[in-house]
Amino acid sequence: MSRRRILILFGTRPEAIKLFPVIRALQAFPTIEVLTCATAQHRDMLDQVLGIAGIRPDHDLDIMEPGQTLDRLTARLLTGIGGVLDTDPVDRVIVQGDTATAMAGALAAYYRKIPVAHVEAGLRSGNILHPWPEEVNRRMIAPIADLHFAPTEIAAAALRREAITSGIHVTGNSVIDALHQTLAAVEARPALAAGWQDVAPAIDGRRLILVTTHRRENFGGGLEAIADALLRIAADPAVVLLFPVHPNPAVGAVMERMLASQANILRVPPFDYPSFVAALAAASLVLTDSGGVQEEAPALGKPVLVMRETTERPEGVAAGTARLVGTDADRIVAEVRRLLDDQTAYAAMAQAHNPFGDGQAAARIARIVDAGTRLLSRA
Ligand code: UD1
Ligand code: UDP
Repeated sequence: MSRRRILILFGTRPEAIKLFPVIRALQAFPTIEVLTCATAQHRDMLDQVLGIAGIRPDHDLDIMEPGQTLDRLTARLLTGIGGVLDTDPVDRVIVQGDTATAMAGALAAYYRKIPVAHVEAGLRSGNILHPWPEEVNRRMIAPIADLHFAPTEIAAAALRREAITSGIHVTGNSVIDALHQTLAAVEARPALAAGWQDVAPAIDGRRLILVTTHRRENFGGGLEAIADALLRIAADPAVVLLFPVHPNPAVGAVMERMLASQANILRVPPFDYPSFVAALAAASLVLTDSGGVQEEAPALGKPVLVMRETTERPEGVAAGTARLVGTDADRIVAEVRRLLDDQTAYAAMAQAHNPFGDGQAAARIARIVDAGTRLLSRA
């Protein structure tokens, strides 16, 4: 029996984190030949994940350029991925999430009438400018895909509202698989989290606030307000802010200008995944505008204040572990102070919840991809 050829596409750090469990699960199927294509929309941050996960892509488009515009990025992704599909034909393409890679990958497959499976389908904020451009990216993938792996019932319902009538499967989010697998690996071998171990002594018994930010809609005034809030929070000597800074030059420039002189704001280069997971496990609370971190923090019972106006991940808010605080500096400072000063408020949020999955998403996705692709090939 000839094996079905499945191409898994990824370009950024979070795609690789959320797809490595899926790749491992698919590789266990004798009926499937797994091919991988890194667009390398991210370079160093992607390679950090690929190295740790032991993934050597079959194709690497090396698309990243410093400060690349969305136009140029999207155009190069579309022609680059199209070229791979023409030279190395496959029976199915799998994309993840809402990046330019995922959107362009789905479109390139559609132009060749290759079926597309979408991992992390159905997330919707309802506002095409928040997050920008991700909300439109994932809406564009929905009518193309024939398999929609919704992490939650809320995400599945959003797809149904868009008249997607078949191929929706609620699987959980594979980020929870990645988190649990990585946490177990770090517990077994703490040296895996060397980046975290290097900074951990500097925490020195103080309360750790883990910070990440990179959303394009926050560039400019939003990032300056966030930096202002961090400075005001850091005025309290009993806290340390650990801030792995996203390499997008628009982020680093603001943070370097505004935070350079504050000793208890530890700005570090992006952590590899084991170090980030170890830092998350050690944190008292998390300040972020990241999608993935919003999913991971509730799983570890870490209160997460989301520096955005909307979220396509309302499950964390409903579970009580996440709170939307926007990008107004006064509001961010007030919400952080409330959690630091009010033990009852802190305890109410610091409850472990897994609204985004049970750590078995990848196995479910692999089983459905196997069955779905065999059916298609007979049709
Ligand atoms: C991208 C995704 C976003 C996702 C985020 C995860 C799009 C349009 N955006 O945003 O949805 O949430 O990744 O982090 O798909 N850079 C480096 N090294 C790296 C990665 C990025 O130097 O390893 C710098 C480069 O200057 C690059 C810039 O960051 O041009 C922006 O990268 P890009 O992939 O366009 O967007 P992100 O803001 O990272
Ligand atoms: N992450 C990481 N190192 C860091 C910061 C984040 O490995 O220094 C991980 C984090 O655990 C999560 C993912 O990167 O799984 C989130 O990526 P990002 O915030 O860049 O993108 P988003 O999820 O917002 O698309």
